[in-house]
Amino acid sequence: MSLLSRLRGGWGADPLWGVVYDFLVEHPVVGRPVWFAGTHSDLRRLHATADEVGRLPDGSRVLDVPCGGGVALRGLRPSQRIEYVAADLAPEMLERTRRAALRRGVMHLVTTRQADVGALPFEDGSFDLVLSLTGLHCFPDPKRAVEEMARVLRPGGRLVGSALLNDTGLAFEPLRRGGRLGGLIGPCCTSTELASWSAAAGVPLEVELAGAFGYFAGVKAG
Ligand SMILES: C[S@@+](CC[C@H](N)C(=O)[O-])C[C@H]1O[C@@H](n2cnc3c(N)ncnc32)[C@H](O)[C@@H]1O
Repeated sequence: MSLLSRLRGGWGADPLWGVVYDFLVEHPVVGRPVWFAGTHSDLRRLHATADEVGRLPDGSRVLDVPCGGGVALRGLRPSQRIEYVAADLAPEMLERTRRAALRRGVMHLVTTRQADVGALPFEDGSFDLVLSLTGLHCFPDPKRAVEEMARVLRPGGRLVGSALLNDTGLAFEPLRRGGRLGGLIGPCCTSTELASWSAAAGVPLEVELAGAFGYFAGVKAG
């Protein structure tokens, strides 16, 4: 893939932005100040959300969608006995996740799956945790994505994640517009829309705004 297409292309072009993003998340000494300058949000929030994976009991199944370059694998411990399904639309991102899993010594726990979040190829109620970090704003139909993530979650299971939201202030409008121009983000949604879609899908979510992002967490009603 040429440098130009990686600069101009969407997620399927394995964009250089994705490499920068992964580097920032993985290297907090550099990543935290840069993240804060760009989003007014603390990178430790994202790390703490990924850490939920490390607390899952044996036998749990987790869906990470979209997995991107696999940054949420940082929460997974090699000694855990869980199944971690990493799903993304772009094969290039799945390949990055596989490399990250090998690097972290957790490949034996990870299955990668090419999937559109709008039509997840999984049974109803088949996951204990659905994790969606920095993803919802990248989807063309965020409402449909929320419904699908809620569908595959078991009653009592948790949906957690973060997203760039539309009601986090004008200061972040250049970020949203730039992402759309680059073909990397979609329409996004507001915190109110997210909360109402997820409640209607059976997973009442708490959404907390922090800088450009909303962090959400909720339990599926059973
Ligand atoms: C900003 S990345 C976030 C990934 C990862 N969770 C992270 O924090 O690094 C967004 C990802 O969404 C994926 N994506 C975009 N549209 C999608 C869709 N309809 N279904 C599944 N994944 C999608 C892209 O391929 C990309 O890997």
